[in-house]
Amino acid sequence: MYDIPLMVHIVLALSAFIYVYYSVKTKTAFMFPTQQAAIDVMINLIKTENSENPNKSIKIYDLGAGAGGVALKLAKAFPQATVVGVELAWPAWLYSCIRQKISRLGNVHFTLSDFMKVNVADGDVVILYLSDAYIGQMSEKLAKEGKQGSLIISNTFPLSTQWIPLQEISVQASVSKKIIAYRV
Ligand SMILES: C[S@@+](CC[C@H](N)C(=O)[O-])C[C@H]1O[C@@H](n2cnc3c(N)ncnc32)[C@H](O)[C@@H]1O
Repeated sequence: MYDIPLMVHIVLALSAFIYVYYSVKTKTAFMFPTQQAAIDVMINLIKTENSENPNKSIKIYDLGAGAGGVALKLAKAFPQATVVGVELAWPAWLYSCIRQKISRLGNVHFTLSDFMKVNVADGDVVILYLSDAYIGQMSEKLAKEGKQGSLIISNTFPLSTQWIPLQEISVQASVSKKIIAYRV
């Protein structure tokens, strides 16, 4: 019988530990990625938002950027935009930085930080894929500091009931089934 090398066991055990540790610490599904169909919906929402002036430079925040997939795709779709991905867990942050270097996209960068401490007052678009645990705090933060007229796009989890959705869009995907848009 083929023996699995010790190193493989160590790497698997370490990966599982990191996954569970950060999922508990951040109260979200660590690095769990938004599916492409949901990213397409986000791109369409932002395009519609800027349809009168598609070359306008805008700032997009991805709060809880995970492995950076959403931020990188938005940076590619909107070369005139500046995209900032904020992530608390260093393994995910490091991975997203490596992906950014490989992609050579100059209009996206990743910050290792707690998104509750990052001021998003200059954000034209704020992207969220959090969990129920953050709804209250995030709803208050955005009400307090969100830029007037800016767009908030939340994957799956609605903000608190004080926020009236602009649109709720069903997504044909196995996990990311709903995108909810709000206006500050
Ligand atoms: C469900 S994942 C979403 C990843 C990515 N935005 C996407 O849609 O593909 C949520 C991410 O938020 C991060 N996160 C949770 N709490 C955070 C906090 N307070 N500050 C920064 N990032 C946080 C988690 O580590 C996790 O990687």
